[in-house]
Amino acid sequence: MSTHAAGRPRAPYGMEYARIVVPDLAATREFLQYHVGLQLEQHDDEYAFLRADIEHHCIELISDPSLTESRTEAVGFSVESDAVLDDLRERITAAGHEIIPLHDRMKGLCARGFGVRDPNGLIVELFTEFVEYAEPPLIELRPLDLVHPFLATNKYDETVEFYTRVLGFLPSDYVGDVTVFLRGEDRYHHSLALQRNDEHYVAHLCFMMKSFDHVMRGRARALYKQVPIASDMVNHSASTSIAFYLYDPKHGPRYELCDGHRVFTPEEHETHRPRRMALDPRNIDVWRAAADDWGRF
Ligand SMILES: [Fe+2]
Repeated sequence: MSTHAAGRPRAPYGMEYARIVVPDLAATREFLQYHVGLQLEQHDDEYAFLRADIEHHCIELISDPSLTESRTEAVGFSVESDAVLDDLRERITAAGHEIIPLHDRMKGLCARGFGVRDPNGLIVELFTEFVEYAEPPLIELRPLDLVHPFLATNKYDETVEFYTRVLGFLPSDYVGDVTVFLRGEDRYHHSLALQRNDEHYVAHLCFMMKSFDHVMRGRARALYKQVPIASDMVNHSASTSIAFYLYDPKHGPRYELCDGHRVFTPEEHETHRPRRMALDPRNIDVWRAAADDWGRF
């Protein structure tokens, strides 16, 4: 396979997992099973793997009872081929970033791979041939995919440069000079989003549910258990998805449950010109009533 299709370096394919250190492993396992619909596959007192679909896992939890809140320490992206993986390694090395080994538990779960720290210190793991299951979980109310992380950063320009110029993610849309939505080769409108902020943190992880009905059933469960909804029903102008966001800092970043996230056609993927949208709440959620309707974000 050409590593420079359409005259451009290839990006990673798509997001596969986040690795999150949590204070109460058992409680977070249960939270993710009930509220997100993940299936617990493997665990001991130190870690747990949960999956959404056939891919081996979408969340890895690590126990650290000394914490009071969770901390997301790594995100994993699959890569289409050995050739693209080698090219990424060359680009990362040429840009002066250190290549680090995959986490030990990932080493048996893919063919080849490595890690790199982004400018904020977040570990990005890149690998080929992620291990999968023959069947998806036999759970009706579950996500189909982990779509993207949304990263807040106090090194916005440097971080945008890293993910676009070095890793090859393609800009899909900008909102002012504070947010950029970036896509990988899976052609989701965004497989990664970056926001200019006073500090760095993983702001949310987005799961694509099977339908809008399932998003609303997830919302009903959150209301029933009184889990805080950090941002209620949002109709996203950039990706066209409709979503809400659950948030309990003990259990991870905000979890976005969405339906209808835009997927570009192969032609759009190569030719799309990113929009430059004004910094207006209606350019984030088209259901906002006016330019000053910033509440609930
Ligand atoms: Fe999102």
